[in-house]
Amino acid sequence: MTKPKVFVTRIIRDAGLDLVREFCDAEIWQDDLPPTREVLLEKVRGLDGLLCLLTDRIDGEVLDVAGPQLKVVSNHAVGFDNIVVPDATARGIPVGNTPGILTDATADLAFALLLAAARRVSEAERYLRAGKWKTWSASMLLGVDLAGKTLGLVGFGRIGRAVAKRAAGFGLRVIYFSPNATPEFGATPVSSLDELLHQSDFVSVHTPLNQSTRQMVNAEFLAKMKPNAVFVNTSRGQVVDQEALYQALTSSQIFAAALDVTDPEPLPMTSPLLTLENCLIVPHIGSASEKTRDDMARLAANNLIAGLKGERLPHCINPEVYTDNK
Ligand code: GLV
Repeated sequence: MTKPKVFVTRIIRDAGLDLVREFCDAEIWQDDLPPTREVLLEKVRGLDGLLCLLTDRIDGEVLDVAGPQLKVVSNHAVGFDNIVVPDATARGIPVGNTPGILTDATADLAFALLLAAARRVSEAERYLRAGKWKTWSASMLLGVDLAGKTLGLVGFGRIGRAVAKRAAGFGLRVIYFSPNATPEFGATPVSSLDELLHQSDFVSVHTPLNQSTRQMVNAEFLAKMKPNAVFVNTSRGQVVDQEALYQALTSSQIFAAALDVTDPEPLPMTSPLLTLENCLIVPHIGSASEKTRDDMARLAANNLIAGLKGERLPHCINPEVYTDNK
């Protein structure tokens, strides 16, 4: 029996690749960098399934070049702003993602960034490595405390709730703005973003990237934050107007920022944000733990294989493609 033909746009963990290889005739892109658009368009021609990463833009053109036999697109990520989902839905193609399994890893990183920015950890390490540490000093590298302060979560989905759970252990009061979310882990809803920004000493963003969140963190947003506040972003870089963030950080309008995501990615080394001591930036590592990446690879493979078999995907972004509700 001939195996379905698939393309995997990058090497993912063996936990997923082994499943893909067993069930499919798979071509796996070996390069460290993603395939260019041109190469992607060449590779998708005649495919039955595509397993892609958040670095690949999948739209109507890619799906049409692939051809009408394409049965499934599986994204190795929980976020899916790299995929034009309505284009897939219009062609009856289910799209899978990897929710749930990366919640704890991403919340851990959000918390690590929050603590590191509050206590100037990466700046302190740079200071030490530069040979500037001459003696213990009562006023060296002073940061801000967590206990008794307020953490404001913009978005209270799985990851936002997991951050709230961690915050309780650090003596933080947690508020959130997320219409329709149920209060959990002692967190209190507020009725507007303005109220959240006025009350919060720490603001952490946990929303998907969409029309209403693109550039949400702009000059106006930052001006409403408290002067000693810390801003954390582990969602998507395009949620933030980086020029406005740079201004807020250089004018001490806020204390510090910590970013796992930037716009664009990778962040060019010429970015002014990289000149700032009070801006901590890491290269989109929210889900980067061994177990989480194994789980993501496995789930992405299972979504792909289910789609190839004509079964419902374990995690489908556009369930409206299943008109018969099977
Ligand atoms: C990572 O950012 C993801 O969406 O999985």
